[in-house]
Amino acid sequence: MCGIAALATTGETKKQTVRILLEALRSLEYRGYDSAGLAVYDEDEGRIKVWKRKGKVETLVRLLRGVRISAPIGIAHTRWATHGVPNEVNAHPHLDCRGEIAVVHNGIISNYLELKKELIEKGHVFKSETDTEVFAHLFEEEMKSKEPFEAFKSAISKLEGYYAIVAITSKDPERVFFARKESPLIVGKGSDLNMVSSDIASLLRYCSKVAPIEDGEVGWLTWREIYVEKNGERVAVGERFFRPPWTPEQATKGNFPHFMLKEIHEQGTAVKETLMSISTDPRVKEVLELLEGRVVVVAAGTSLHAGMVFSYALGKLLGKDVILLDSSEAYHLEKLLKDTVIAISQSGETYDTLKAVRIAKRNGAKVIGVVNVLGSTLDREADISLYTRAGPEIGVAATKTFLSQVTLLLYLVSRMSGVELKDPHLLVESSIRKSIGYARSLAERLKEKQSMFVLGTGASLPIAYEGALKIKEISYVHAEGYPAGEAKHGPIALAEEGFPVLIAWTPEDEEKLQVAKEEFASRGSEVYWVGPRGDIVAPESDWLHLPFTITPPFQLLAYYMAVLKGYDPDKPRNLAKSVTVH
Ligand code: F6R
Repeated sequence: MCGIAALATTGETKKQTVRILLEALRSLEYRGYDSAGLAVYDEDEGRIKVWKRKGKVETLVRLLRGVRISAPIGIAHTRWATHGVPNEVNAHPHLDCRGEIAVVHNGIISNYLELKKELIEKGHVFKSETDTEVFAHLFEEEMKSKEPFEAFKSAISKLEGYYAIVAITSKDPERVFFARKESPLIVGKGSDLNMVSSDIASLLRYCSKVAPIEDGEVGWLTWREIYVEKNGERVAVGERFFRPPWTPEQATKGNFPHFMLKEIHEQGTAVKETLMSISTDPRVKEVLELLEGRVVVVAAGTSLHAGMVFSYALGKLLGKDVILLDSSEAYHLEKLLKDTVIAISQSGETYDTLKAVRIAKRNGAKVIGVVNVLGSTLDREADISLYTRAGPEIGVAATKTFLSQVTLLLYLVSRMSGVELKDPHLLVESSIRKSIGYARSLAERLKEKQSMFVLGTGASLPIAYEGALKIKEISYVHAEGYPAGEAKHGPIALAEEGFPVLIAWTPEDEEKLQVAKEEFASRGSEVYWVGPRGDIVAPESDWLHLPFTITPPFQLLAYYMAVLKGYDPDKPRNLAKSVTVH
């Protein structure tokens, strides 16, 4: 959820430390944007300096305009609040009593109240309500009797919960210390700097090679060395390094006003590249064998909707039943998590999905990960990883990763059933071209509504759910995806003059959708179709290819509703892109 970036550097680059960290924060901002902060060791003054601000990274950028510092080490953070309201005091980095230690953290320290009590008894004075500040004081306490790395490790060993923690101290102005338990952390090597961060996107510009840090590892980095340990033993991480598959340009907005709009437009390419990659992936053979047996799918949010597309297609074409579990609920049914488990997650870091994966592995299941981020936790923990090739997705609302997941999963279905997937990227591109103007006009009419239904049936139902999720999360209009035929069993009570209902078309049973339309329209509802000949026009297609034709119109509708209401679609309130908390 929160985003961490830190670096150690040398020579002239020391003058760029603040700028590099701010740039890293910008690309991490989708992980949280309640507040942002930065701490560096100012080598001229020989002390740590800290800046923080409530709100988005740009407020911190403004605060630091004109600041010139030569800093060999620095840490930075963008926050998605868990403990303590989002304000400046609770923003990271947090300091110890003397201002000699600065700490940033992602995760939750569950025993922080006990630790805080002990530290207060020892005379430590706390400024914030956060669990993170406890670590700064704990580290300080340990430093009284140990050298910095020993003190850091000893402080880490006292923590319960889960975390990625990065710290610096003015007593050791060349090293950045880090530790990971269940929250992502990646190290990167550059020419005259080394970095550590919550994800690859923020490392792209400065690091030519990156490597994930694994659970239970602690370490430090200087500008020339990266040292990692686990259970007191040195870990050789050299072989873990790989070249990031993305370019820094992919993680910029280009000429688009928002990442979300850019990413919607990139869907044709994302779908095409995913299809090219999966259709030549040697791992598919083994996956197809595993899919002959019992299959459970776990995923959250948009990825769960991709799982619905998969399970519908398998049921319809092959009569194969797939158990589909919302990953936040899966642990209740742990006995179901066996045989073959497909975990779908674009980030590969969603806590609930990873939790289900870990249960499945304990139960002896084979786990197939469908993931967009190489080196992510799911990628490493899955027995077999299949990659979507969407490139970095920065907008918080998932768009191109969804259609890439759908492409990959329908490719597996097509291999199992012999039914061919035909040029899905062309359908996506034509859908965007056809629907964009209509989506924008309809957004004008719908933007002030309070609530709406999005009805679908058969293949269009997962897209109705996905469309409703997009509308809710970025335009803050309550939208509920619902099976068209089920609506008469209760939800229709909401139908009244002006109540909007969107219908996601499918060629499978237009009549059923017409009936639902009449039921709502006769009670005064405004009913809008999304599909060929619709109020938002999308291309014709068969049911199998429907996600490629009717998903973009809903994404565009949600996008324009948000923009017309003056909201930032890339950073919807209360959300973060990687949901790494329980
Ligand atoms: C919605 C959205 C979320 C994610 C969900 C799972 O637009 O982005 O619902 O789909 O948090 O994320 P991943 O796929 O990273 O596991």
